Parts: sequence; C-alpha cells; structure tokens
Amino acid sequence: MKSIELRKKFVDFYISKKHKEIKAAPLLAENDPTLLFVNSGMFPLVPYLSGESHPAGKRLVNYQRSFRTDDIEEVGDHRHTTFFEMLGNWGLGDYFKEEQLNWWYEFLVEVLKLDPHKIYQSVYAGDKTAPRDDETIAILTKIYKKYGVKAGVGVATTTDGNKGPGVEVDFNEQRMFPYVDKNWWKRGDTVGELGGPDSETFYDTGLSHNPKFGKFCHVNCDCGRFIEIGNSVFMQYKKTTDGWEELSQKNVDFGGGLERLAMVSIGSSNVFKSDLFSGYIAFLEQKTNTKYDQASSSYEIIADHARAATFLIADGCAPSNKDQGYFVRRLIRRGLIHLKKLDIDFNAFAELAEMVIEKMSPVYPHLEKNRANITQNIADEVEKFSHTIKNGLKYFEKVKPVDGKLSNDDVFDLVTTHGFPLEIIREIAAEKGYKIDEDGFNEKLIAHRSLSKAGSEKKFKSGLADSSEMTVKLHTATHLLHQALRQVLGGHVEQKGSNITSDRLRFDFSHPRKMTPEEIKQVEDIVNAKIGEKLPVYCEETTPATAKEANAIGLFDSKYGDKVKVYSVGRPIGGDNAAAGADAESAFSREICSGPHVNNTEELGHFKIVKEEASSSGVRRIKAVLD
Ligand code: ALA
Repeated sequence: MKSIELRKKFVDFYISKKHKEIKAAPLLAENDPTLLFVNSGMFPLVPYLSGESHPAGKRLVNYQRSFRTDDIEEVGDHRHTTFFEMLGNWGLGDYFKEEQLNWWYEFLVEVLKLDPHKIYQSVYAGDKTAPRDDETIAILTKIYKKYGVKAGVGVATTTDGNKGPGVEVDFNEQRMFPYVDKNWWKRGDTVGELGGPDSETFYDTGLSHNPKFGKFCHVNCDCGRFIEIGNSVFMQYKKTTDGWEELSQKNVDFGGGLERLAMVSIGSSNVFKSDLFSGYIAFLEQKTNTKYDQASSSYEIIADHARAATFLIADGCAPSNKDQGYFVRRLIRRGLIHLKKLDIDFNAFAELAEMVIEKMSPVYPHLEKNRANITQNIADEVEKFSHTIKNGLKYFEKVKPVDGKLSNDDVFDLVTTHGFPLEIIREIAAEKGYKIDEDGFNEKLIAHRSLSKAGSEKKFKSGLADSSEMTVKLHTATHLLHQALRQVLGGHVEQKGSNITSDRLRFDFSHPRKMTPEEIKQVEDIVNAKIGEKLPVYCEETTPATAKEANAIGLFDSKYGDKVKVYSVGRPIGGDNAAAGADAESAFSREICSGPHVNNTEELGHFKIVKEEASSSGVRRIKAVLD
C-alpha cells in the first residue's frame, strides 16, 4: 500500500469510530523550554490529557510530523529515521483498553490486511507503581482468538540482549510478552509529567535471528526480526515527587510510525524500500551508478537527513549554530559527508530536498510554499560547509599524528576553530588510519566551555550562539527588552524565540500589529533608563512554585524540573519582601533562564532597536544592538 493511502485509511478508520481529525503542530516545539522538537503526537495534547477539555472533543486522530534527535546515530539500520510521521489516536477520559486494542487490531488485520499470525505484543510486567497489565493480556487473548491465532503469554523478559528471555521462545505459541524494564511510557522525568503502562505492537518481518544481539530472540531484540509498529499508552498517571499518582481521567495515547507501517504493508523489513523513500534511493543509485546495497548506510542517512532537513526548514528552523538550528546544520552536513563518501556532488542534497517537496506537498502544502526558503537555506549551508571541508582537509594534510594518534589539541582546533564536526573527524581519521582520544578531547572541550561560562548542556537551553562578553550583554538586554515590551504593548507579549550573536540580539514575541515609531522609542527609553539605573542582576535557584509566586516570566505548565534558575534585574526574590509594594515593582525583570548574564545593567552601554518586522502571523521580530 502506498503511504498516501495508508495515512488516509488510518485517519478515516478512526473517523468512522467517531474521532475528529485535528491539525498537527509544527516540528518546533512551541513554548516548551524542555523540548526542542515535537517528537510524538501527544506533545501538543498534554493539557488535554491532563484534563482540560479539547475543543474537538474526546476522540482525536491525526498524523503528526515528528523528529527525534536521539535517533540520528541509529539511521542506517534499515528501520530508523530521524524524521517520521506518527499516526495517532487519542481517547481523552473516554474509551480505554478494550476499544483501543480492538480497533487497532481491526485496522491492522481488516484494513491493512496484515497477517495476524505475524503480530506480537509487549505488555507492562508490573512493579511497585502498578500491577502487571493483565487487563491488556485478557483483551488481546480474545482478539487473537477472534482471528484464529494461538496466543500465550511468554516469560517475563528484559530488553537487554544478553539476558533477553533467557529461554527459546516459541513464537507460534506465545504472542504477549511482559517486559520488566520497559512498557511504562513517560514523556519525561520531571514532576507533573504524564505516563502509564503501554503495550507495543511488533510485526515479524521474517528475518532470522542474529545471535550477535543475544542468544535468544524476543520481540524487542535488535536483530531486526521484529519491528515495533505502534504503541498504545494507557496514560492514566502523573509523576509526583515520590512516584506516580492517578490522573483524574484515563486516557489512551496511541502512536504508530507511518514509515514502518508502510514497510510492513509491502512485506519488507526495510523502511527505505517503501514509497516514502524509494524515489530518493533510486535517485542516489542513479548518481552512483550502483545499486543501493543495504550494507552501505550512506544511502539511508542521506535520504533521511534530506527529508528531515526539508521539513525542519519548512517549519521555520534554519541551519545555525544553536538550539534547533544546530540539528538542521548537523543533518545537512552529515548528509553531505555521506554524499562525499558515495562520490556524489553536494548539490544532490538540494535536489533531494526538491524531491521531498514534490513527494510530500500533496499532504504537506506548506513545503511547496516554503520551496524557495528551503532550497536557499540548503544552498547556503552547502556553500559554508564546502569552505569548512576545504579548510579542514588542508589542516588534516598538515597534522602529524604521534604513534598513529591525533593530538587532542589538533582535534580541538579542528572542532572549535575550523568548525569541523567531531563525527566527520572521526570518519576521516578512520580512513587515514589515525586514532583519536575522544575522552581526552571531550574533557578538554568541557573544560573550555565551563571556562567561558557556557557548559555544553546550556548550549541548548539559553539560546546563545556563544558566550562571548558581548553575547552575554545582549542576553541581559533581551530580558530588559522583554519586560519593556510588556510595559509598553501589554501583558500579551510573550517570547516566541530568541537568537543572540555577538553582533545583535533577535527577539520574537507575540503581538498582533506592527509597532509604531513611538512605541519603539518608548521601549528603547525604558531599556536605556534601566541601564542608567545601574541595576544589579541576581541569579537564584529555586522551585518553579516560588518562581511563579515571585512573578518570574516562564511557562508554568508543569514542564520544569524541581529547581529552576531565576534571573532578576533590580532585586532578588529574597529581597522582594523587604520592598514596599507589589512584587512586580520590586524587580524590573524576572525570568526563568539558564543564563549567563552580566552582573549589573551598567555594563550594557546604549541600547538601540535596529529593526522591527513581522516574523510570522501574530509574531513580531526585533533586532537590537548595544553600542
Ligand atoms: N506517545 C507514545 C509514543 O511516542 C504513543 O510511543
């Protein structure tokens, strides 16, 4: 079955079960400081799973474009992709296990016509949080019986290949497998996160077990025989400080990867053989004049990364050095390296992006609308990277490895001065037969970063491209600007994005109209007045609740950890009580933020807005400098 038909069949099937189709969210997680990209269909639905009523009702269905950074390194095993489409259905305090599992099997067997004898299921084995999911086992037993399939419960198993089930499994007899270290789905580990027992569906691709992955095969084995095609999460718990408590409603959160369903529906064990990828693979085969050999992961990496980069750029994420943009840069550059490996010209990446636009625009019209933007961003990145490669290769010509090992200084220089990604250094070094001391290099990098006050973990939190003195100043200026905008334009102003380089700040915020010259001037005056007042900047660590009480700007929808960092300009949280009057008057600006910032506003100099323009609908963009 072609993917376009499959996607539609899924949605139509659930509409026939009284679901409403809802719009998907863009790939860039909006207003969620803990998440860079939307990586499953449930992310935009958290408030509704928590009990808020959804305008479309209690039964929802959609297909949600998703991107998983964790899977970048996995691509190349014929079944992982970074970008994928999640087919999802939800029951919000409505139906539960019985309906979910029956409908899902009805879809697989009666709509997709998959062989029920090839379908397996994992279940929650139970621990101190909740008992074994016998309810699911009972429901599945009936379903298998209906389809004339023998279905026993296997021994409790672990996902660890070395331990596995510990016994040979008779896959003709056993179909349901409790996992002791899996099958509790949670979005994250912080208090307030949602979760619950889940039950994953696996399809037997018919490959034989590869003992490299463990003595005995099991459905979660990495050998490739079984592939996960969907996950029914019975989302009925919320994380507390010491465990999980029941939510006020029982939800179903189901997600299944379109790519994998397309794969099994054509009887393949390789997602890249489905129509979602076959065109790109054929294009690469034409370029190399060689048939795609599954032993070469490069084809898969290039095809996946071109598709992912295209979708990410279309959703407003241009390649850059920071945050989400960093991943787009990495995808493109990694794709280019693999083109190089196959001896294909770099321009093929943009050609592939054009093919993605052609292929996917009937379902995602925003791709066509963003065509110029997508190809321009890719062309620019290709040009930048070509320079980097040239310089890096020149550097490689000159290095003198000692005992076949590249010095940490050389690797460090390549990465920090020449912008040569470590994974590429690794590849070229391997080609040349040089070793790298990665631990030593990493230590050096971390030491360097903490010296410049930006630990590598902060890179993705603060929105700063680097941590030069000027960038830090502009970061503090951004907080002042944010507060000044709220004073001049109103409390509806919310940060929608921030990007700071050592030359300028860029701040995106919600506001329905163009700002007038008077408003711009007022905002500048306020910021400059606060600079003139020489206000101290305080950094405090506290709980989200205390931060909220102290009117810190932030998103209080239970996505923070137990502790947050709060930056206050003028007065610390602790100092507020001493001040007469309301808290809001006590500190000029107060935000939850990972820093870094200057110590006193007097360090900033003079603030000037150089541009105010539309960023997207309902969002304005300001560029400003300090001189
Ligand atoms: N949210 C569930 C998952 O991502 C469906 O597996």
